[in-house]
Amino acid sequence: MEKVHFTEEKATMLATLYGRALDNRSPDPVLGDQAADDAVRRIDYDFGKLGVDQNLAMAVVLRAKPMDAWAAEFLRANPDAVVVHMGCGMDSRVFRLDPPATVTWFDVDYPEVVELRRKIYPSRESYHQIGTSVTDFAWIDQVPSDRPALIIAEGLTMYLTEEGGEELFRRLIAKFPRGEVVVDLYSKLGIKLQKMNPVVRKANATLHWGVDDPRDLEKLGLTVVRALDVGTAYPDSELDRVSTGTRIQIRIARLIPALRRMGHIVRYKF
Ligand SMILES: C[S@@+](CC[C@H](N)C(=O)[O-])C[C@H]1O[C@@H](n2cnc3c(N)ncnc32)[C@H](O)[C@@H]1O
Repeated sequence: MEKVHFTEEKATMLATLYGRALDNRSPDPVLGDQAADDAVRRIDYDFGKLGVDQNLAMAVVLRAKPMDAWAAEFLRANPDAVVVHMGCGMDSRVFRLDPPATVTWFDVDYPEVVELRRKIYPSRESYHQIGTSVTDFAWIDQVPSDRPALIIAEGLTMYLTEEGGEELFRRLIAKFPRGEVVVDLYSKLGIKLQKMNPVVRKANATLHWGVDDPRDLEKLGLTVVRALDVGTAYPDSELDRVSTGTRIQIRIARLIPALRRMGHIVRYKF
């Protein structure tokens, strides 16, 4: 067992990991992330104190699922791609997608997080981990620049400042010949209401960067390919998996544009 102590934004990745593990323990998992489940069993931490219930677990896996699907589609079409998975936390996406060794994959997060990943997850061919803040841009030089790139940031942008986040994407987009960005965004209202998010509140984390419309990032050289909002990210087919209270909240959010647009999951190309 690995004893861990994380605070603030680094602690939030334990909540999302636990969400994926809980989903895997349900009789009919959405994501089926066995590696997350195994990782939780190997980490000595009171996951119960994170306040992650079935509703939150669903929010986590319904965000991860379309991101996995878009990533898999890109990798099928670009088997020579470089993947830059930023703010990876303890996410086992590389094991879920299991790309061929022709794909070079970089998982990037703070050094303490990468240190834990190295203890918990096995190494694999063409797989690298970089322990750094993503906004200490020197790490970008470690990534080859001559191949199509898939840039993934799940649950990361909101922890960056607008200035830092925009500069990060500018640098990455300039580096590669072409590629896609798969990312989730909170609106400015989402940032204002951050303490209503139990994961953020319990971790004592602070969110900064709000993006109201996915097209706002097109100024960085990106083009929106697909965008899901709070309404479309929860398909009707999955609504019976959440509590009545959460179902009502989602139905209300679908009707009120500012709530509906409080979060987006976006696929861009460049
Ligand atoms: C909500 S967690 C999401 C983790 C993972 N993507 C997932 O979905 O499980 C946020 C992650 O972003 C990382 N993070 C936040 N700011 C960062 C920064 N400036 N540089 C690197 N990682 C950062 C945190 O350490 C944490 O692992």
